Amino acid sequence: MANSKYEYVKKFEADDRLPPSNWIVVRIDGCHFHRFSAEHAFEKPNDENALNLMNVCAVSMLEQFPEIVFAYGVSDEYSFIWRENTQFYQRRASKLLSLCVSYFTSMYVMKWKEFFSYKELKGPPYFDGRVVCYPRAKMIRDYLAWRQVDCHINNQYNTCFWMLVKSGKTQKEAQEYLKGTQAKDKNELLFQQFNINYDKLPQMFRKGSCIYREKVEEIVKEDGNANGVTRTRNKVVLGHMDIIGPNFWIQHPYILQED
Ligand code: GTP
Ligand code: MG
Repeated sequence: MANSKYEYVKKFEADDRLPPSNWIVVRIDGCHFHRFSAEHAFEKPNDENALNLMNVCAVSMLEQFPEIVFAYGVSDEYSFIWRENTQFYQRRASKLLSLCVSYFTSMYVMKWKEFFSYKELKGPPYFDGRVVCYPRAKMIRDYLAWRQVDCHINNQYNTCFWMLVKSGKTQKEAQEYLKGTQAKDKNELLFQQFNINYDKLPQMFRKGSCIYREKVEEIVKEDGNANGVTRTRNKVVLGHMDIIGPNFWIQHPYILQED
């Protein structure tokens, strides 16, 4: 019996390797982040410092692990896209997952003070995660579009919800008020009642954050060459662009290039 259990564990370990020629998505998500945000008095619905801290941790992941080609983050979640044929950790799902969770969490704790110098970190955040494989780059683009659509829907709802609460409604009343409203109705509500043009709110709140590499040219001074020489290198960059439509991917075809 003990032996068969051991066999089972061994089999599980072997099965843990993800199939070759598949893009790997590791998505991490804060556990009970609602509570963590309340404990640390994050601004509602979006705390700029908290989001910037998440972004800095994710930028550091791309700087540290060249095999991650793209990351997309919103609220308490981040998705990391690993290169199609990465051999990192022999493509073991559990290892990739725990690497992302532990590296991200330790960066979060280390960088906390840079973003919240006036607030004590009461305890580390906890992240859980999942790993999903996609055999085609098109599926990764669809996956990322899905996350950005989700960001848009949630952010628009939360913006309305908290404006209604700040204007004196109870949370239950605000919830009732928004039941069944469409995107257009919500934009209209913000404009008419609160004089807010939703489309003018910060891009980071409405579109989430994208991290990837871009070739940059640098002029490097060298001995014996007064003008310096031009060198190109890959720099990790962060932006809040639209990744639902095709434009970004047409402009950056190399990010999800299939081998
Ligand atoms: P589980 O993920 O199921 O463990 O629960 P969760 O509480 O983390 O909820 P979920 O991941 O669905 O949603 C993230 C939650 O984090 C939101 O509902 C917010 O309460 C909170 N959150 C994320 N970003 C911010 C922020 O910038 N400000 C504030 N106030 N809260 C935030
Ligand atoms: Mg969460």
